Amino acid sequence: MTVYKYQALALALAACFAQQADATTLNTLNGQAPLVIAHRGASGYLPEHTLAGYELAVKLGADYIEPDLQLTKDGFLVAMHDTTLNRTTNVAAVLGKRNNSYNVSGYTLAEIKQLTVLPTGTGQTSYPGFTPSSPNAMRVPTFDEVIALAQAQSALTGRTVGIYPEAKISDPMMEDKILSTLAAFGYGKSSDKVFIQSFSLDTLKSIRDKQNLLGMTIQEVFLGNSAAGSFADIAKTVNGIGPSISGGGANAVTAAYIQAAHTAGLLVHGYTFAQPDPALAAVQFDKYFGWGMDGVFTNYSDLGATARDVLMAAVPEPSSYALMLGGLALLGGLARKRRA
Ligand code: G3P
Ligand code: CA
Repeated sequence: MTVYKYQALALALAACFAQQADATTLNTLNGQAPLVIAHRGASGYLPEHTLAGYELAVKLGADYIEPDLQLTKDGFLVAMHDTTLNRTTNVAAVLGKRNNSYNVSGYTLAEIKQLTVLPTGTGQTSYPGFTPSSPNAMRVPTFDEVIALAQAQSALTGRTVGIYPEAKISDPMMEDKILSTLAAFGYGKSSDKVFIQSFSLDTLKSIRDKQNLLGMTIQEVFLGNSAAGSFADIAKTVNGIGPSISGGGANAVTAAYIQAAHTAGLLVHGYTFAQPDPALAAVQFDKYFGWGMDGVFTNYSDLGATARDVLMAAVPEPSSYALMLGGLALLGGLARKRRA
């Protein structure tokens, strides 16, 4: 090889190095892209916890859809954040109170199915260019219907849509029904795209015990801003922690917080990314992605997915590292041969 060819190869490798030096490092626990979790569906655009909202969230790029779960009077799991129906539905006009309250647990599924879910916050009753495929897209969905939608969208889009159910009450019957429903739909392994979440570590411990008895290993996430010292304890039960990004002081989610959780082997899925302005949202996502956050609960899945895609475009492919190392090995070998 001539000296010019050595120089050309060295220059090419130098350019490759320069490119890598500018590259973003992925700081997530397992080196995977951070997850975009559709918080209550596409709740920034459509009524929360509706089939319409979940379907739109998938179309906007969500990796997981998040149903919060409540139990009806006759024991069905329904997707609903509040323990009461009156903030998000027209229950007052259609059914009125039960035992002087609007508790979900006071109504049968057949009654709840008569209700329409209303938009809250920045949500609207429709989204430009989107027609939900379900005829009952603005009714309160059952957990079964949410999973069926995720599986139908997986088949349609060719990418597995994950589900991220939250046990909103501490109730053994709810624990049993979450597990039996997941099992009926074919979920049971840690590799399945499912996380079970709760604000109650006791509930998650109970679910873990039940999973062990059933031979199930679905991943679990504890919601809350634990102090760093207890991450190791939490990691004995669950696979991840879901802190509020609004916490301050000792509860603030920082780079050090995420690093400490990772050291304990915990994923970090923060909530709630609710910034509607695209530019401001991008800055916010970038900050937490840069710190290695593994997943984001967001009301605006499109903004989360865009930030995730920008991040991943800046991360070098493993193949480019291999190419660079291969080139260096080749150059070293040629140089040794020439010296000999
Ligand atoms: O589950 C994560 C996040 O959704 C917790 O907040 O109150 O919206 O269920 P919340
Ligand atoms: Ca939730």
